[in-house]
Amino acid sequence: MSLYADSLKTLSVTDLAAMKQAREKISCLTAYDASFGALLDRTGIDVILVGDSLGMVIQGHDSTLPVTIEDMVYHTRCVASARKRAFIVSDLPFASYATPNDALRNAARLLQKGQAQMVKLEGARIDVIGFLVEQGIPVCAHLGLLPQSVNRIGGYKVQGRDPAQAQKILDDALAVERAGANLLVLECVPALLAAGIAQKLSIPVIGIGAGVGCDGQVLVLYDMLNIGAGNRPRFSKNFMAGAESIEDAVRQFHRAVKAAEFPADEHCY
Ligand code: KIV
Repeated sequence: MSLYADSLKTLSVTDLAAMKQAREKISCLTAYDASFGALLDRTGIDVILVGDSLGMVIQGHDSTLPVTIEDMVYHTRCVASARKRAFIVSDLPFASYATPNDALRNAARLLQKGQAQMVKLEGARIDVIGFLVEQGIPVCAHLGLLPQSVNRIGGYKVQGRDPAQAQKILDDALAVERAGANLLVLECVPALLAAGIAQKLSIPVIGIGAGVGCDGQVLVLYDMLNIGAGNRPRFSKNFMAGAESIEDAVRQFHRAVKAAEFPADEHCY
């Protein structure tokens, strides 16, 4: 039973924290425009992520690196114009948070012009997270596979398989929480590692390819609707299979997350 499903007000960062306390799983999908923003909102999706994955699924690039802050502000504003209840997180794109001051300038644009409620950034950027939080900007950290670092990593690979790497991800997760992050996305890490991190942290941990032990799940909308241009990642699922409509597919995802039925073993590492 959801504590927040019938909420008429827009969800806040404290509602997300309360969902973790109440052991209610948090559902999250990406959206980049008003139509999908409205659809996700009316199905009860808790968090809409305006992800820089838009560089791949909207703009057709082979990575998220070409996405600019102008792109992010534009798409965030489109989504926010249609949203009533869902909490909106927007990505700080590649190289837009090299210094705390850069991060503040760009995060402020996402909140002021885009109407986001929180910004997401990749890596354990403790200096930047602490500075943004001090300025009143809620931060979602993103650890594990960092798509903006694909050129350094050498591909989109599972992270944290060896013990030293796993320990580093755990240490980073504890550090971003201490720095003041209110949410953590863990991407493509072994399910056991992610479940341990979700247990140790008091902030909600949202997984993508990180197992069912996380406090919530996020997928790229176009992957779960099976309309992505590339191959669907192993951790995603085609929710259109057997669905009557796009809205039905999104509702099935939402229900499966709430019931801890997604992800299944076949979607995990
Ligand atoms: O940009 C995005 O869509 C993301 C998700 C993959 C978590 O960061």
